[in-house]
Amino acid sequence: MMIDLERVRSETAGVAHRVHLNNAGAGLMARPVLEAMTGYLRRESEIGGYEAAAEAAASLDRVYDSVARLIGAERNEIALTENATVAWQMAFYALAFQPGDRILTARAEYAANYVAFLQVARRTGAVIDVIPDDAQGVLDPAALEAMIDGKVRLIAVSWIPTNGGLVNPAAEIGAIARRHGIPYLLDACQAVGQMPVDVEAIGCDMLSATGRKFLRGPRGTGFLYMKRSFVRSLEPPMIDHFGAVWVEKDRYELRDDARRFESWENNYAARLGLGIAVDYALAIGLEEIAARCALLSHRLRDGLADIDGVEIRDLGPDPASIVSFTVAGWEAAEVKKKAAGKHINISISQGSSTLLDALARNLPTLVRASPHYYNSEQEVDALIELVRTMR
Ligand SMILES: Cc1ncc(COP(=O)(O)O)c(C=O)c1O
Repeated sequence: MMIDLERVRSETAGVAHRVHLNNAGAGLMARPVLEAMTGYLRRESEIGGYEAAAEAAASLDRVYDSVARLIGAERNEIALTENATVAWQMAFYALAFQPGDRILTARAEYAANYVAFLQVARRTGAVIDVIPDDAQGVLDPAALEAMIDGKVRLIAVSWIPTNGGLVNPAAEIGAIARRHGIPYLLDACQAVGQMPVDVEAIGCDMLSATGRKFLRGPRGTGFLYMKRSFVRSLEPPMIDHFGAVWVEKDRYELRDDARRFESWENNYAARLGLGIAVDYALAIGLEEIAARCALLSHRLRDGLADIDGVEIRDLGPDPASIVSFTVAGWEAAEVKKKAAGKHINISISQGSSTLLDALARNLPTLVRASPHYYNSEQEVDALIELVRTMR
């Protein structure tokens, strides 16, 4: 079914004052998300924090079902976290590495993940190997296959990187990981909410994601998917008395679901908001969302590419809804500032957030514009027109 643009825009307060093309940063929350959160916070102030949580227990519990449905998992394979990074860290740091163990990753890997690889490599003697790209700049599954040996302990890649529309072949990587029995941790931060995600079809063992980007949830939310068989075999790097019950003086028992990776205290208003955001996306349909994201991002890319001096920096044959570009004679930060002057929200990607990619392609700081399904064609054209006036 076609997206009812009028309705989704009427439920998105920000579109009245802003052209919001920064969904890879944080999407605009829809009204039901905001209402669920403010309503919940009001109850915290009226009846008390613990009492409000008890009152909303059923809705809070349903958030696990919603997130599980979003990615084709079971609810006991989901842990809710305060961001994607913590979700990813919980999975990564739960793995044990020996000297010489290999971590295979992507060239456009996110800085937060890569610095963790570096730390663990320094501590344990594990080594980081970057999987080569194909001629179009996409992670090359054949090259990955050729790298596999008995020392590969983990494949950990970003599906869509922070700095552009590149879509790495998550499911092809999964097929290789499964065939060789290698743990596979997928950073799906920029993919969830933008396209259908099915952990079974992808074949990942662990997946991390955030709430605030294309899912249009609140800031400070994220989740970890961990396959059931992995949950049982992995001890979280840090535990508290929520993830592990203190059963005897000198003994604890870990929960037997993915929530062993959570801790006791949480922002319940934000969790509720995340659940509503997921339901909202599911009600619209992820196929429909993906189709409209493709339409708008192609329109933006084509319009910008037509302007003399603008260079599109996205890799791959079919990039997602993150459009990265440079404008000759302008620093990325100046383009962002010019856009802000016209109430157009865009962002910039510094080389340090995906350093290997920036070095390999000799990239300057990039302008990043990321439309979402609720944007209109006119909004996309407004950015194209602005950039045109700068040339
Ligand atoms: C590819 C990728 N991974 C991980 C993250 C981190 O997400 P969070 O800020 O929710 O921890 C980001 C955020 O920009 C990202 O783009």
